[in-house]
Amino acid sequence: SKGEYPHYMLKEIFEQSTAIRQTLSPALSNDRLDESCLGDSASTLLDGVKAVQICACGTSYHAGMVGRYLIESLAKIPCGVEHASEFRYRSPVVPANTLFVVLSQSGETADTLAALRYAREAGYHATLAICNVGSSSLVRESDLSFLTQAGPEIGVASTKAFTTQLLALNIVSLFLARRNGLDPQVEADITNTSLKQACFAVDAALALDDKISEVAEQLVDREHSLFLGRGVMYPIALEGALKLKEISYIHAEAYPGGELKHGPLALVDENMPIIAAAPGGKLFAKMQGNLQEVAARGGQLFILTDKPEEFSTSHDCQVLTMPTVDEVLAPLVYTIPLQLLAYHVSVMRGNNVDQPRNLAKSVTVE
Ligand code: M6R
Repeated sequence: SKGEYPHYMLKEIFEQSTAIRQTLSPALSNDRLDESCLGDSASTLLDGVKAVQICACGTSYHAGMVGRYLIESLAKIPCGVEHASEFRYRSPVVPANTLFVVLSQSGETADTLAALRYAREAGYHATLAICNVGSSSLVRESDLSFLTQAGPEIGVASTKAFTTQLLALNIVSLFLARRNGLDPQVEADITNTSLKQACFAVDAALALDDKISEVAEQLVDREHSLFLGRGVMYPIALEGALKLKEISYIHAEAYPGGELKHGPLALVDENMPIIAAAPGGKLFAKMQGNLQEVAARGGQLFILTDKPEEFSTSHDCQVLTMPTVDEVLAPLVYTIPLQLLAYHVSVMRGNNVDQPRNLAKSVTVE
């Protein structure tokens, strides 16, 4: 039931700190991440992994894009990520010792399942499903599985399944990184100061709800919007745009900040709202420069950042202050306000939030 909440989506957004705690806990043993949570043969199968290929659809695909950054930066092995609906229609070359990873809330998405079956035939080293439904086809047909413990997700817009997938990808990246020279102290630091603290950062982001609702009021009558992020935040911009278009029916595009000059900057005028995810970190100054370009063209900026002092606020530049978190956790935490934004805009437009037009919760046909 929806309990005290008017919609399943809002309930599921607010369940995220619990979902994250419940997903982390079975992966820990004596305070350390234990790879047997992936299955009995996990250690043997992971030992030989030299590369990763991820396939998924929709929101799960965006999680996969974040996964690539995590795997390459922590485990230092190459990682590809592809829409499951496209993967089997090219002639993918199978690199030796490649782990094939599928991500899915339902575990029944037709294209993702077909990609998994294709990969098994094609001779990938091993398959891993990161999934929210233990009894699903994806889990049954994979060598290894990581179960996100988000609980049932009813709203068509995926929320808690996504953030728990991001946590799962952090964990799997560390399992691979261990085999590739990651300092055990770094792993312990990430586990203790990022993963175990994730639920608190999520709660801090959820506390922005009222402020996000004020931003939503300014977007409700728009027909277009632009989402920006760089590096590991680019997939989060894509996810923010997908959420908004899916339930508010406002056209939303997402770009990496550095791509603006190559076309989309032409769209920017005083009628264009731009939502930017700009956490401090190595790409912060670059992003700041990109946002100045947008401001110079009169765009209306809404900036999510933990460095509010770096921006001068005005009617055309509103800043929402985020908690400061490590780079591996920023995608998860910055997703929360973008989910809330899409939710509020959808409600204000009088849409059916939990059951948007033309969409099904589980896409079991190609
Ligand atoms: O169940 P899955 O995660 O495999 O579903 C994939 C997509 O259909 C799904 O994420 C879809 O994009 C969501 N409705 C987005 O909110």
